[in-house]
Amino acid sequence: MCGIVGYTGKGPAVELVVRGLEKLEYRGYDSAGVAFLLGGKLRVVRAVGRVEDLRRKLPPEAAAATSAIGHTRWATHGRPSELNAHPHSDGAGNFAVVHNGIIENYARLREDLQRQGCVFTSETDTEVAAHLISRLHEACGDLPRAVERAIGMIEGTFAFAVLSTHYPGRLAATRRGSPLVAGFGQGEMLVASDALPILPTTHDVYYLKDDQVLDVEPGGARLKGEAVAPSDHIHWSAEEAERGGYEHFMLKEIHEQPAALRKLASKLIEDPGAPGDPGGFPRFRLDEMRVTAEDLRKATRVVVVAQGTSYHAGLIARNMIERTARLPVQVEYGSDFRYRDPIVDPGVLVLGISQSGETADTLGAVRLAKERGCRTVSVLNVQGSTMARESDGCVPMHVGPEIGVASTKAFTGQIAALYVLAIHLGVVRGVLTAPEARRRVDDLLQVPQRIDEALAQAAHVREIALKYKDAEHALYLGRGTGFPLALEGALKLKEVSYIHAEGIDAAEMKHGPIALIDEKMPVFVLALQGRRYEKIVSNIQEVKARGGRVIAIASHDDREIAARVDDVIRVHDDRGIMNSIVCSIPLQLIAYHIAVGLGRDVDKPRNLAKSVTVE
Ligand code: M6R
Repeated sequence: MCGIVGYTGKGPAVELVVRGLEKLEYRGYDSAGVAFLLGGKLRVVRAVGRVEDLRRKLPPEAAAATSAIGHTRWATHGRPSELNAHPHSDGAGNFAVVHNGIIENYARLREDLQRQGCVFTSETDTEVAAHLISRLHEACGDLPRAVERAIGMIEGTFAFAVLSTHYPGRLAATRRGSPLVAGFGQGEMLVASDALPILPTTHDVYYLKDDQVLDVEPGGARLKGEAVAPSDHIHWSAEEAERGGYEHFMLKEIHEQPAALRKLASKLIEDPGAPGDPGGFPRFRLDEMRVTAEDLRKATRVVVVAQGTSYHAGLIARNMIERTARLPVQVEYGSDFRYRDPIVDPGVLVLGISQSGETADTLGAVRLAKERGCRTVSVLNVQGSTMARESDGCVPMHVGPEIGVASTKAFTGQIAALYVLAIHLGVVRGVLTAPEARRRVDDLLQVPQRIDEALAQAAHVREIALKYKDAEHALYLGRGTGFPLALEGALKLKEVSYIHAEGIDAAEMKHGPIALIDEKMPVFVLALQGRRYEKIVSNIQEVKARGGRVIAIASHDDREIAARVDDVIRVHDDRGIMNSIVCSIPLQLIAYHIAVGLGRDVDKPRNLAKSVTVE
């Protein structure tokens, strides 16, 4: 979704803002723009397309500006065009505004402003804010106060950064619902939609709270006249957010998974427990969860709320938690949960799963659960995100920044973090014995090695992927935890290759989808050995009997599968739920190589945003 960057200091503001926008490209956008002050005048440059298109349009004199705001726009109101791109200004050209979010009452505000003589040049909701701030400033003569009054009249979600000819070297920044963070450098300040544009300058940040209006100057920031100190120190390094020699972030992040999960385990597992000691339970570092053991013991049910890939991780968590803690788990799209008047009570533990911690639908569901008195715990990757701050507690995944729009290491990180949580629940609730808990922890500790083994076959997976790259449709089948993996495999392929793909519970095939099978249909089947193996083999035979082409993801020691299918990708099968992580690797590689084979922009797939901050 839209990205905001603002800078004020001694440096080349426009260049620094444009570099910041490049760091936000991963969020998804269709146009970009900057506003800066030169000789007391506001200059605005905008371009449809990529940040590099914007860079080409910048005049040489822009290099002299020392304060600027910039924006990447993901169109909501009005098509992608130069006129609709941000920044937007008031008629007199004294105020420039960039915005992330949706102004719900913009039509009414626009009519009022037009009646007062304002002339609009775009179809956007944002332009309303520029005119409104300008009008209110005429009355109060103070930038933060004008912004505060404007947001008092605005309904909806927003993050705004404002630059004005009346306040050279100052920016105003505010938010409600959409993220915004300020970075404190030495004599220079930044504001941005997330920390990535700020990291090259500083790791000391302040996350704005809803409706706060930050008055930003090179030397610091103020809230209602009071100086503000940084509230957080970001642990990610600037290098982690670079491609580091890989062709794409998605490929880098696929290959980072062994290291990412090692780090996750080292952060979340304090002590795996002493082998041979019947009382030696593993110990976890879950202090940020802020839910007492008593609350966990008393919990009557778990409700998971999530969207997209995180929802698929939630479906896997259901199997884990039900097995390890014998606690019923319901998995919900946050988008549906929040509008359904759900039946929850204070005995329900609500788990929000979100890589970004900013997904509007998941956040809305967590907020509703809190209102209903539920304990809320979020499994997150982004420190300081809105969900991290609004949930009662959180379980951080520690897998490092995920820039590729298609989630890869965050998905496997979610599964691993949720497994830690599931084992902890099982121990606290007296369901797991010490050896059982230790065995599960050992399985988790073994996973990075298994991922390494799966990655060692990347060339073989690529060969298979390229064989099927020209398919128009693809099916993914699985049973048990194989089903959410089928959903995830299909989602990955759709997102980055634009091939139509569906994930189906293999048991459902006979109830309709089998009609889709013909000799052109590749069918990727999660076919690891286990309780449902014979049934999955029957599904494979049914597909083959109708001419479908089957690619099986199978156990390393399955001797029969090769004769039944067209292609086999083997993974080391430890016969446990951690197989779900290991099987994710070939699914990610298949999607990646098909997309690259088709010439797609895998890190910035069309129409997609990394962080979906509007409903
Ligand atoms: O940041 P979140 O985990 O809350 O995001 C949820 C979905 O938008 C996200 O998983 C999306 O489906 C990804 N693009 C999947 O690759």
